[in-house]
Amino acid sequence: MNTKQHQPVLLQRAVDALVTNEDGFYLDATFGRGGHSQEILSRLGEQGRLMVFDRDPAAIDVAMKLKASEPRLLVVHSEFSALQKSVEESGKSGMVDGVLLDLGVSSPQLDQAERGFSFQADGPLDMRMNPEQGMSATEWIATRQEAEIVSVLFEFGEERFARRIAAAIVKRQQLEPITRTADLAEIVKAAIPRWEK
Ligand SMILES: C[S@@+](CC[C@H](N)C(=O)[O-])C[C@H]1O[C@@H](n2cnc3c(N)ncnc32)[C@H](O)[C@@H]1O
Repeated sequence: MNTKQHQPVLLQRAVDALVTNEDGFYLDATFGRGGHSQEILSRLGEQGRLMVFDRDPAAIDVAMKLKASEPRLLVVHSEFSALQKSVEESGKSGMVDGVLLDLGVSSPQLDQAERGFSFQADGPLDMRMNPEQGMSATEWIATRQEAEIVSVLFEFGEERFARRIAAAIVKRQQLEPITRTADLAEIVKAAIPRWEK
């Protein structure tokens, strides 16, 4: 399986700390391209089990390919907020030996312009980790009040120029829908008075 698309962070150290029982039951809440999962599986014996989650269908495709030759793997296409429910449904409540969360985006999500996360490569302004659910960033921007955009940029992005950026977004949106990542990047760039060194 090709895991070179994403370089797992702190691979050995994270898995060293996680896996203490080779027959244990472990969760990888953010499968991505499976770098951590494969390392966890390499430390488990025949009785060990690994349940993996990801909300991105592209990550789940990779997980399902791995599962074809890996009977110790359980794959759940879901947000990790459903983790407890999935564990309960599998009859493993109270038996979890460890959980790994490698939070954030994966390299393929950033590298593939059509996913709409990149400000280096132009693509449709989508930004959904699961493109089959919810609304794209284009739709989100088009349906939000300025105050909500400020709040998201400030609280989730820790962006100190949140007000300026939100005002610029709303101004452009009133002229035409913002549908491309390059357009949004230009709007943000123009709205920021100075760049961090
Ligand atoms: C940094 S990557 C994980 C990389 C992984 N450890 C590897 O070695 O390939 C983060 C992953 O978490 C997924 N993700 C982000 N938020 C999620 C959520 N709420 N529920 C499930 N998966 C989520 C993303 O789709 C992405 O694939």
